[in-house]
Amino acid sequence: MAHDIVRGPYDGPPVLVLETREEMWRFMVGRFREISERAIRERGRFSAALSGGKTPEDLYIELGLVGQDMEWRNIHVFLVDERFVPLGDARSNYGMIKRTLLDKVPIPAANVHPIETEESDLRTSALKYEADVQRFFGTGPGTIPAFDMILLGIGQDGHTASLFPGLSDLRVGSRLVREVEALPESVARVTLTLPVINHGRTVFFLVTGKAKADMVRRVVEERDPGLPASQVLPVEGELFFVCDGEAASMLDKGLGRAKTAHSRG
Ligand code: 6PG
Repeated sequence: MAHDIVRGPYDGPPVLVLETREEMWRFMVGRFREISERAIRERGRFSAALSGGKTPEDLYIELGLVGQDMEWRNIHVFLVDERFVPLGDARSNYGMIKRTLLDKVPIPAANVHPIETEESDLRTSALKYEADVQRFFGTGPGTIPAFDMILLGIGQDGHTASLFPGLSDLRVGSRLVREVEALPESVARVTLTLPVINHGRTVFFLVTGKAKADMVRRVVEERDPGLPASQVLPVEGELFFVCDGEAASMLDKGLGRAKTAHSRG
C-alpha cells in the first residue's frame, strides 16, 4: 500500500484526506492500478467489488479514461450492492458502472458480474448472485471469499453497501449475499453481507462533501456501533477512509488537515 497513507494517533482506521475530489480520483485510480497489478502477479486475477451511488461516478469515469492499458482480461468486476430496479432505471448501480466504466474499457463480458434484477424475484436474485460469487472463487457453503478490493460509500444515515441501520441481522449467518426489502426511503436491494466485506483484502470508504462530515466523524472517531459503516473492520485485510477536505472537516484536527497527504497519481 502507498506510503502516503497516514495512520492517526488513535485506534480507528487510517484516514487519507485529499483536498479535492479530482485528487481523490487520481489517487484511487493509482490504487486500483497498483492493487490489480499485484493481485494479477500473485494470483493471476484481480477481483473488485464496486459500490454505486453518486460518489464514485467520477472515479469510474476517470478509470475508464486513463485505465485503458490495465490488464482487463484478468480484472473481474462485481457489485457491492444493487437497487432492485431494471437496468435502464437511473437508480441502477450496474447501469451507472456500465455507462461510466465498463463500456469504456476492454473488459471481457465474462469478467463482469452484475446482480440480476429483471428476471428473478428479490430472493432468487440474491441466491443467484451468491452462486456467481462462489463459482468465481471456487468456494462452497461456509467459506467466505476474499475480494481483492472493495469500494464502499457511506449514506448520511450511516449505511454502507445496502446494510442500513436497524437491519436486525447484519451478519446473516453464513450468507454471502442477502436481499433487503424495500424501506420507506429506499427501493429493495441485494447486497454483499458484512462478513464478505470484512474479508476483503483492501477495503476503501470513499466519502466526499460537507453533508457527510458528521457521519465520517461518527464512524471514524466514535466507531458508533449502531452504524453499519462502523462495523466494517476487515479480519485480515486493510481498511482506509479516503475523504475530500469537506468530508473530513469535522475530524479531530490531528486526523484532518494536519495529516493531509498528497496524491502520487
Ligand atoms: C448504493 C450504494 C450505497 C452508497 C451510499 C452512498 O447503492 O446507494 O452502494 O451504499 O455507497 O448510499 O451513496 P452516495 O454516494 O450516493 O451518497
